[in-house]
Amino acid sequence: MDQTPQGYRPLLGSIEGDEEKEQCSNHHLLVPRVYGFAILFPAFVLVVSLSFNFLLAAKLLDLAKSPKNYVNTDGRSRTESQVVDQRTKYAGLTRDIAVPWTWHGPFFQHNETRIFEKWVEVDSSDGIVALTDTYVQEKGLPASQRFPWDAAKGVYLVNAFHNLHCLKVLATTLMNYRLKQPQTEDFEHALHCLDALRQDVVCDADDTPRWTGFAEMVSGPGQFRQCKDWGRLQAWARQNNACHRHIKLKEGEEAIEMYKYCPEGSPYTEKVKEYFGDQGSE
Ligand SMILES: *[C@@H]1O[C@H](CO)[C@@H](O)[C@H](O)[C@H]1NC(C)=O
Repeated sequence: MDQTPQGYRPLLGSIEGDEEKEQCSNHHLLVPRVYGFAILFPAFVLVVSLSFNFLLAAKLLDLAKSPKNYVNTDGRSRTESQVVDQRTKYAGLTRDIAVPWTWHGPFFQHNETRIFEKWVEVDSSDGIVALTDTYVQEKGLPASQRFPWDAAKGVYLVNAFHNLHCLKVLATTLMNYRLKQPQTEDFEHALHCLDALRQDVVCDADDTPRWTGFAEMVSGPGQFRQCKDWGRLQAWARQNNACHRHIKLKEGEEAIEMYKYCPEGSPYTEKVKEYFGDQGSE
């Protein structure tokens, strides 16, 4: 029986038996026998040569696109084009690092004082960025309040940093409760944070099944999942930094006081100095 898929025929080579007769009956395709070798051999050489040229061109084009291979921890590799498709819209992040869930760690240990110390260290202050109106339009973001040091930029709060800030607010609330201290966070703010985190959990709808413990009441420890690189998000936020720190304003101080904390190498350091005089840069 004919093993070739329907609609395909071998281009050259041995065609035997019935196949040959069938071909020979296609009169319009027949080459007169007298010219057989004289025409077919140069034609064969031409076809082979063109095929190689085509393959070479395809290979070069492919190389120009440089599909770097990314290897996952499970050993599977994906081409860069597949990764590019999954890049986040703003900082261009991909889920390219494998991180296991932990059970016990700095934020969950027997010594509560140490846990609280870890929460005090959590810093979300890099998360306020200033983005140009051009970029904002290109990405379809809503317009935002003006950045004091460049009127063509709006001020935005990067969501992951907002979430981190919210976690810290809730941790502080719990800490105060546990240590029987007066609450330092505004309760309405804490409720807003609880709701903000809830909305993101629902939005993410993370479908990863966590393994469950047989002897211990645990789920997930040691289990890897693909994460985005927090360091890269932080670098992006710093690159676009709005020089902002969420300081508590003193009586009579204006909100612009919050915009004088430029990171090193910021293009706005000079403007801040000009505006505030010497006490500006810190
Ligand atoms: C808990 O940690 C704090 C701060 O590091 C330390 O001073 C304290 O001695 C620790 N408590 C215990 C019971 O280990």
